[in-house]
Parts: sequence; structure tokens; C-alpha cells
Amino acid sequence: MKINVIFYSIYGHVYAMAEAVAEGARSAGAEVKLLQVAELIPEAALEKAGAKAARARFAHIPTATVDDLASADAVIFGTPTRFGNMAAQMRNFLDATGGLWMKGGLIGKVGSVFVSTATQHGGQETTITSFHTTLLHHGMIIVGLPYSQKGLMKTDEVSGGSPYGATTIAGGDGARQPSAAELDLAKFQGKHVAEITKALLRGRK
Ligand SMILES: Cc1cc2nc3c(=O)[nH]c(=O)nc-3n(C[C@H](O)[C@H](O)[C@H](O)COP(=O)(O)O)c2cc1C
Repeated sequence: MKINVIFYSIYGHVYAMAEAVAEGARSAGAEVKLLQVAELIPEAALEKAGAKAARARFAHIPTATVDDLASADAVIFGTPTRFGNMAAQMRNFLDATGGLWMKGGLIGKVGSVFVSTATQHGGQETTITSFHTTLLHHGMIIVGLPYSQKGLMKTDEVSGGSPYGATTIAGGDGARQPSAAELDLAKFQGKHVAEITKALLRGRK
């Protein structure tokens, strides 16, 4: 069972969540590849935005190609929110999948999404559910994050998380890092996707 975790990140919050998602998927027996989509922002602008140190942490992660979608049994996507939607870099990656769509290359594969926002109510859910629209056009089977993960009920501290997918809150200045609870949600999502993918593959034999 092959699961690719494909993310975009500037300051590392989505990357940290992606590592946790990958760990969860591996724990359920998946062969996992962690990949990032191509950057569109010039290097100088990234440096000006104070992103250089954070990006060094995930510079070793290879760049995803469209083939990395077709070759997987499931794809778990991670993106920061941009005005309540996915980042342009992720959109750019998905908009290169017209040929794959023509062939029906993702029909019946599992798709799942996790995100990061700056603020608690800054569009985590809209980012995930609007991302799902693209996955459904590709014929993917959407998997979220069920309430059997009790962390979704957490109220004793600020926490991301939704039944649509794992989330983290970076804070207005990006200083907050994914909490242990949020990383647990991400691990659970990875494991859950892997278990469902495994069952689907078994059923198709
Ligand atoms: C152009 C732009 C738009 C953004 N829009 C939102 C938004 O709608 N809601 C929100 O909470 N955060 C918003 N953010 C903050 C990012 O979501 C935040 O920097 C990101 O989640 C951090 O993830 P990263 O460390 O993986 O890059 C925006 C950031 C930028 C640069």
C-alpha cells in the first residue's frame, strides 16, 4: 500500500503536521513518501518574509510531480490557508493534473486533507472542504478525521482539529508550533487513511 503525503509550507507548520501524518500512515503498514509542491515565490521574497530558517528544515523533501499522484493508492494533502482557501502553490500543482483527470487516473483512490491557519477561525474548515471539491472532480474517495479521535473534543486548551481533517493554528506571527494534541490528530488521520486504503485494496483483489 503506497501513500504519498504532499504538502506546501512556508514557515514549517504544515511540514510538521505532514511528518506526523506520515508517521501515522506508516504505523498502519503503508509505504509513505513525503513530498512538497513546487514553490512559486522568488527566493528573495521568501527571505524578506523571514522564511529562510524554517524552510531549511524541509529543504531535503523532494518536489512532487503529477506521477506521484497516479502511483499512490492514497494521497494526503497538506496546505496553509490563504484567505480561506488552499495556497496558490498547491492550486498550481493540482491545476497541472488535467491530463491525469482525462485518464481518470485518480478514480477510486483515497484523498484526505490537513491544514494550518494563523487564527483559530481563519478558514480551516473552508480550506479543507473546498480542497475536497477538486478531489471529488478527480473521483477520489474522501476520508476525514472521525470523532473516535477524542482530541477533537478538546476544550481545555486552544487546539485545531475538525472532522474534515487535522489542523494546527500558527498564530498571527507564526510563533505557535503544532501542539502535541494537534500532532496526535495528524497521526490519527494518517493511520485512518491507511487503514481505509488497506481495506479498499483488500476488497478489490
Ligand atoms: C496571503 C496569505 C493569506 C493568508 N490567509 C489566511 C487566512 O485566511 N486565515 C488564516 O487564519 N491565516 C491566513 N494566513 C496565514 C497562514 O495560513 C499561515 O502563515 C500558515 O498557516 C502557516 O503555515 P506554514 O508554516 O506551513 O507556512 C495567510 C497567509 C498569507 C501569506
